[in-house]
Amino acid sequence: MPTKDSVKIAPPEGKLGVLIPGMGAVASTFIAGVEAVKAGWALPIGSVTQMGTVRLGKRTDGRSPRVKDFVPLASLNDLVIGGWDIFEDNTYEAALKAGVLDKGHVEKVKGPLSAIKPMKAVFDPEFVRRLNGPNVKQGGSKMDKARMVMDDIENFRKTSGASRLVMVWCGSTEVHHLPAEVHQTLANFERGLEKNDPGIAPSQIYAYAALKMGVPHANGAPNLTTDVPAFLELAREHQAPICGKDFKTGQTLMNTIIAPGLKARMLGLTGWFSTNILGNRDGEVLDDPASFKTKEVTKLSVLEHILQPEIYPELYKDFYHVVRINYYPPRGDAKEGWDNIDIFGWMGYPMQIKVDFLCRDSILAAPLVLDLILFLDLAQRAGMKGVQEWLSFYFKGPMTAPGLYPEHDIFIQLMKLKNTLRWMRGEELITHLGLEYYD
Ligand SMILES: NC(=O)c1ccc[n+]([C@@H]2O[C@H](COP(=O)([O-])OP(=O)(O)OC[C@H]3O[C@@H](n4cnc5c(N)ncnc54)[C@H](O)[C@@H]3O)[C@@H](O)[C@H]2O)c1
Repeated sequence: MPTKDSVKIAPPEGKLGVLIPGMGAVASTFIAGVEAVKAGWALPIGSVTQMGTVRLGKRTDGRSPRVKDFVPLASLNDLVIGGWDIFEDNTYEAALKAGVLDKGHVEKVKGPLSAIKPMKAVFDPEFVRRLNGPNVKQGGSKMDKARMVMDDIENFRKTSGASRLVMVWCGSTEVHHLPAEVHQTLANFERGLEKNDPGIAPSQIYAYAALKMGVPHANGAPNLTTDVPAFLELAREHQAPICGKDFKTGQTLMNTIIAPGLKARMLGLTGWFSTNILGNRDGEVLDDPASFKTKEVTKLSVLEHILQPEIYPELYKDFYHVVRINYYPPRGDAKEGWDNIDIFGWMGYPMQIKVDFLCRDSILAAPLVLDLILFLDLAQRAGMKGVQEWLSFYFKGPMTAPGLYPEHDIFIQLMKLKNTLRWMRGEELITHLGLEYYD
């Protein structure tokens, strides 16, 4: 039974600095939204920290505070934001180019958005092949680049007056690469940085710099980044929480809502065909088969983990699963995702579900960026370090302790998140057993 003193949480005093490598569609939509909420003309819809509640005690107690009133989170007014990009556009220009938000809305936040100019990026065209930009750090080894990023972070801390920092990768999806020897220990990784090991991606150079300075890190893309033993070591050593990978939005969000429902009712599945068209810069990068491969791996594994074919072979063994993403410029950020789901029920009778999701990916991703920033900062103030599995709710490919399979069911993930908050505040965990109502 937790007590009020279970977890000591330092108060969120001063400003919280947010560092974002990759200031494109997701980042600019997030920043514009924060400014709109602060100015009072938009609501933070989709954000659990701002709109969600936590039920406490019995159902009859009537205690359901807002998450933000229950745990001590940084306020939106205390966020100060900076970042890096390979393009020189300030956030106002990036938001206009991304085309997610109406021009009228972007104009209303032009002042604060124009003030955010990206620092020079650590970039390697081997890892993102479809892009090339001028705002890139030159020369030196990968370790030198990491030191340059640490200098950037320190300068940002000083100029912004932030008392705490959080980093969220919102950069492009890097090409698929598997963990290698260089990722196995921190010592190997640091040697690899000095020797320019080709297995070290730019996203890992930013993450290394952040964690080395004790800055928590979330990975919004499916890249390997911190999901390797060297980074677990680094995060624990520097008391930094980490989480990832790949924001759970769009089609995967739908899949993780539908699949647990089918499994809950023990309905079988013969096939799931998912196809998408999108025309933004993310789509352009994913048009490269090597970057698509990274995305495909996280998208494919989700259904396998939810449906557990090894436990339910009669229902889910050998279901046919295809994921396609096609770059289609006319759509811009307004993506369309179709799912054809072939299921079967009583006596094996087949049925079909068709989903046509006209979604706005960055509109779904922006509140996740906000929640991750606030929760990672909370976790660090609560003394939590290493992988934060309770934040799986936000990711397509949740990071877990080595040897543990990830939980993809969004409803289990939400229960885990809220129970973690209850635990932090010394409240009873909710099991939904509910026998006490019938005594
Ligand atoms: N939009 C979503 O809902 C969503 C969902 C899940 C994951 N993601 C992932 O989030 C990331 C961002 O998505 P987006 O739609 O904003 O894409 P985007 O292309 O609009 O923005 C990515 C930005 O990263 C920059 N960049 C690339 N490499 C960089 C580097 N090494 N350093 C600094 N900047 C770099 C690019 O120039 C670009 O401006 C992508 O990896 C995407 O796959 C997005």
